[in-house]
Amino acid sequence: SYVLDLKNTGVKIQPTMYGIFFEDINLGADGGLYAELVKNRSFEFANPMMGWSQPNSDKHSLNEKSGYATVIKTEKEINRHMIRVEVNNAAGYSLVNEGFRGMGIKANDTYNVSFMGAAQSGSISKIKFQLVDEKGGVIGETTISVSGKDWKTYKGQIKATKTDAKGQLKITFDNTGVFNMDMISIFPKDTWNGRENGLRKDMAQKLYDLNPGFLRFPGGCIVEGRTLEQRYQWKKSIGPVEDREMIINRWNVEFGHKQTPDYFQTFGLGFFEYFQLSEDLGAEPLPVLSCGIACQFNTGELAPMAELDPFVQDAVDLIEFANGAVTTTWGKKRAEMGHPQPFNLKFIGVGNEQWGPDYIERYKVFEKAIHAKYPNIKIISTSGPFPTGEHFDYAWKELKALNAQIIDEHYYAKPEWFKQNVTRYDNYDRKGPKVFAGEYAAQTVAIASPENKNNWEAALSEAAFMTGLERNAEVVHMTSYAPLFAHVEGWQWTPDLIWVDNLNSFATPNYYVQQLYGQNPGTDLVSITTGGKAITGQNGMYATAVTDAATGEVIVKVVNTTAKAQKTDIAVKGKKLAKEGKMIMLQSDDLQAENNFTSEKVTPKTSTFTLNGSKIDVEIPAQAVV
Ligand code: AHR
Repeated sequence: SYVLDLKNTGVKIQPTMYGIFFEDINLGADGGLYAELVKNRSFEFANPMMGWSQPNSDKHSLNEKSGYATVIKTEKEINRHMIRVEVNNAAGYSLVNEGFRGMGIKANDTYNVSFMGAAQSGSISKIKFQLVDEKGGVIGETTISVSGKDWKTYKGQIKATKTDAKGQLKITFDNTGVFNMDMISIFPKDTWNGRENGLRKDMAQKLYDLNPGFLRFPGGCIVEGRTLEQRYQWKKSIGPVEDREMIINRWNVEFGHKQTPDYFQTFGLGFFEYFQLSEDLGAEPLPVLSCGIACQFNTGELAPMAELDPFVQDAVDLIEFANGAVTTTWGKKRAEMGHPQPFNLKFIGVGNEQWGPDYIERYKVFEKAIHAKYPNIKIISTSGPFPTGEHFDYAWKELKALNAQIIDEHYYAKPEWFKQNVTRYDNYDRKGPKVFAGEYAAQTVAIASPENKNNWEAALSEAAFMTGLERNAEVVHMTSYAPLFAHVEGWQWTPDLIWVDNLNSFATPNYYVQQLYGQNPGTDLVSITTGGKAITGQNGMYATAVTDAATGEVIVKVVNTTAKAQKTDIAVKGKKLAKEGKMIMLQSDDLQAENNFTSEKVTPKTSTFTLNGSKIDVEIPAQAVV
């Protein structure tokens, strides 16, 4: 039997307690959340024609005279490539884009077409854009009139007549001639929250439904890059999309369980859009920046201390971009992008998953510069990828001595580990740095193994562990599962919270666990005990309890990891509860149960129950999170 004591413990649940970790891994952004359907729209991939084909053309054949496209390097400093299409036989020539493993097209949806174009010579006056299905049948089209030798942006719309997950874009020309093109784009008109240059609706909605307290972006290892040159540089991710300088994605090919040689970052989804998304989600933005160390699992390239300034300046300028007045250099850029109001940034991460003396040395410089100008910004530092051990202890010792504010810990481990470590934070110093459990997920086989499953065993163990996070809310201020998204045809890492294909997405059991906590975070910790002790696995049961000052609710989270139903028998002390309670349950008798596109076996079920006087006496079924 348990005792729920509703007397105030004085421990607040931070509004940031349950959040989201976003990274462009597994086609999370380009080819995923970012709704652009054209792959390599600006011909800047390492192979500038990647994603494009000319089915009726062979530049090298003397017999084939339909036409051909040539990639041209322009005088521009960035995004230098455009395409020059020479059409010799208008009836015979077409230019095709394959999309990111096809384009997900939905019947009756409208698609915005846009491109930059300029005639070179000849008499091309109309360009036709067709969406075609997997078999080449036309499923929507528009014809756009073009004229003149000056560069212009042209726009049109296509209404799709059929749903197809493997659509393509086919471009044809009405006449012979030479025409220059760049930034060829197809976007669903209907993006999440109606944002231009926006996000795929089903995917963003799933984020919203988590009720996240924060959005961490843009990663992950992509923050660091394999080399410093390939790190994420936020300044290159803002402003007009055509001026954002693309780079290779750190998750290109390597770790390619589903090969992704076409994985580049266009930055169409850049820092402005991340801030906007945070605002739309009602989540605190949490940008993380390079600390001058490239991914230590790759080159670990170090910016010499004497050359750290530009890295530090990026961090300081980012705060101005987010919060500065419109009269400041970077605040002005935010306003020009349509957001004169500040984004009210409160947190910034210095380094993603760094470790060792090189990190500490660099962290100190960042901390000094950021807090000298912005004393109220909270800095998140990192303890590296290890949940224990020499590197981990070193990071904590050093960061604590430096009065670090919040330390990011990462743990990818077996389901058993999560259950066994539910008391992990019980003895963390309440006066020391706070914890951001920034990346965690139960690995059913091994870290990032392609065989890992998002099954109920993993999700149940995470739910059990999360009682320990919540119970220790005095020290744990932020938490997030990782990674977030994965495309079934282009992933590098498993398990992942949300799986998608070109048309649909599904929520894993792990997602529903996150959602259960995220939608019921409460505001104040109260105590729930058995025999005077926290419920941390006695009889395979785990529990935590909070109250919500705004709603007056008492929220008890109970996890039964055993194969038998168990009675809660909770004596309530300190306050009288209402007669009826609401019960939200995730349960499966099958630890191997997984969700998929056609059936979600593990989903929340809601019911009501009657309270027995000052007792909560409900049955918690086997293998259930309630
Ligand atoms: O979440 C996947 C990767 O795991 C992240 O990019 C990195 O931070 C960690 O090693």
